Amino acid sequence: MMTQIACHRGARLSAPENTFPAFEAALAQGGDVLEFDVRQTRDGVLYVMHDETVDRTTNGTGPIADMTSKEVDALDAGAWFDARFATTPVPRLDAFLDAFKSRAAFYIEVKWADCDAIAQIIHRLDIAAQCYTCSFSEQMHLDMLRAAPDVAQMVHWRRATPETLIDKFDATIVEFYACDDAKNDFTLENVRAAQAAGLATQVYSDAVSPALFAQIRDWGVGCLNTDHVSAFHAFRTSQ
Ligand code: G3P
Ligand code: CA
Repeated sequence: MMTQIACHRGARLSAPENTFPAFEAALAQGGDVLEFDVRQTRDGVLYVMHDETVDRTTNGTGPIADMTSKEVDALDAGAWFDARFATTPVPRLDAFLDAFKSRAAFYIEVKWADCDAIAQIIHRLDIAAQCYTCSFSEQMHLDMLRAAPDVAQMVHWRRATPETLIDKFDATIVEFYACDDAKNDFTLENVRAAQAAGLATQVYSDAVSPALFAQIRDWGVGCLNTDHVSAFHAFRTSQ
């Protein structure tokens, strides 16, 4: 089994995160799954955006939830990263999914949005089988489960166990966090426990480490969620 690559906000080291150029770069670098974040405007339009405010990743200011879709569509989400990306828009969720559905799977992280509206888009585009969702919000998890029970749910291992939240959310995928501090939960014991429970496995890490990459391969992890798409793709294809 070759470990899949989930591209964290696209190839965000190469292009402005959560934009079409970042997702194009992610696939060009060998990515399989596009990870992105969903928020919505005051008038209920869904967008691909990580932060609660537009300040860091656009030329605007303020919470996206307080803005209209007309205001968000007018934002520049690329110039902050590099002048050559100037005028890159904030993607609308429906246009983004439609544009990439024939070439990628989707890891949908719901930050805060109307999950019925997300589910309507998924079902209209007939892409439920190539999507999985996750959220740091318990309410968003439960809303997605109700609105789209045909979409796989992922939970973070550190916030769940097979006996508790995994059951509650009907999750079939768990994500481990591989890092150098106390938050690390990517251990062989944990991975084997997840696999024994029949769960698919994913690791999130911002490290470029041959030792980590080898563990991911040797422990049979299904997917790496990373900023370093080309580095892991080079590792897995060199084996
Ligand atoms: O699975 C969580 C990981 O994708 C991190 O997401 O939105 O905190 O960068 P975020
Ligand atoms: Ca995310």
